Amino acid sequence: MMFSRLAFVALPLLAANFFQLASGKAQGVKTSAMLQTGSVAGSKAALEVERVVHAKPAEQQAFVLALVDVVKQGRNLTDTQMEIVNVLQRMWYDQILPEMQRGHEADAQLLGEHLAGLGTCDQELAQRHSEVSAIADEKSQLEDSQFRCDEGHAAMDSNASAMVAGFHTFIESATPPSIPIPDVRAASPDMDSYVSENLLWFEGFNRSYKEMEAEVVALQALLVAKGEVCTGARTTFEAKFCAWQSEIKQVTASYSACREAATGLYQATLTAAKSNAASRKVQYAAAFQIECYLKVLIAPGAASQSMLASCQNSDASTSALDVQEFPLPPANEQLLSGLGQVQGGNLDCDAVAAEVAAQVSAAATAAEAAAENGGMVSG
Ligand SMILES: *[C@@H]1O[C@H](CO)[C@@H](O)[C@H](O)[C@H]1NC(C)=O
Ligand SMILES: *[C@@H]1O[C@H](CO)[C@@H](O)[C@H](O)[C@H]1NC(C)=O
Ligand SMILES: *[C@@H]1O[C@H](CO)[C@@H](O)[C@H](O)[C@H]1NC(C)=O
Repeated sequence: MMFSRLAFVALPLLAANFFQLASGKAQGVKTSAMLQTGSVAGSKAALEVERVVHAKPAEQQAFVLALVDVVKQGRNLTDTQMEIVNVLQRMWYDQILPEMQRGHEADAQLLGEHLAGLGTCDQELAQRHSEVSAIADEKSQLEDSQFRCDEGHAAMDSNASAMVAGFHTFIESATPPSIPIPDVRAASPDMDSYVSENLLWFEGFNRSYKEMEAEVVALQALLVAKGEVCTGARTTFEAKFCAWQSEIKQVTASYSACREAATGLYQATLTAAKSNAASRKVQYAAAFQIECYLKVLIAPGAASQSMLASCQNSDASTSALDVQEFPLPPANEQLLSGLGQVQGGNLDCDAVAAEVAAQVSAAATAAEAAAENGGMVSG
């Protein structure tokens, strides 16, 4: 039963109408109890009380103002009019003012809820924070193992270099026996000895030379394989690094989108609540004055001109209907920075993604080839 603003605008008009009714000047409304100055049948009076009680608030106000005019003219109110005044008085206290208060409280509660909405952005951020941390941990582990792989590769590489160098030294320092061929070029014990000594040396040289060569080739193959493992480890690390960075960006963006939406909702609600409060204050001020008139009309024999005049001049304090504004909590910079920095860097994450895809497809091709070979062998 809240008054609309329109009703207040229409009030003067209605008041004029009711003034006529209450003061008995209206033509053609002969049966209205509001016109009655004498005794009225009980049932008829009750009907009229009902009528006013169920009238629109603006009409009730107009009725009260019209009664005030009756009193101002020095006339007494009828019993029915007095009864209506009593009922209206109870209505102000039991319905209209509590409803205004409830509306005010509902707005305040809604504002509080939207304010709490900003808190849910923080809760969401805290949840996502642990996801980002988990990715960051994985990234760090991959970075470690990539680092260890590179270290191992470097050690193997230096071993291989040392081995190659040793191999070269061995070949360079190899000195075949410098036994001159016997002067007599004919079968002889000397010739036998010449051949066997040379053979012995070259056999030994060939054995060591071939062994070392095989070792060098094997180590170089291991080195290449290790290099591939480390390249794979680097790509895996870089892919995780990129995933981590993109997660940070995504979480940061959704946090600010959440805050933007919640702030927008709060501001819109605040605007609506302020507008509600403004019209509620207008309603309250009017209701306050009417309530003052009702008190005067109800007081036995107290409907003095001065009291009525004081109602006209009284100003309602509407500060209780003020909308309480809360400072919006700032963004949680601590959690945000705890996500980790988005690094400019020169890592091309698109290229990393392409490399991962290439690795996956190469592995699939290799598996296919292995399956085919296996089939041929067994078939
Ligand atoms: C109004 O009521 C009072 C007391 O009941 C009475 O003395 C007075 O004469 C009445 N006035 C008029 C104008 O009827
Ligand atoms: C390098 O050589 C050293 C000494 O021969 C050996 O102990 C080590 O295991 C080798 N490291 C690698 C990575 O091949
Ligand atoms: C040298 O040694 C390798 C490996 O033992 C052997 O295959 C090759 O026949 C040898 N060369 C000669 C000329 O005997």
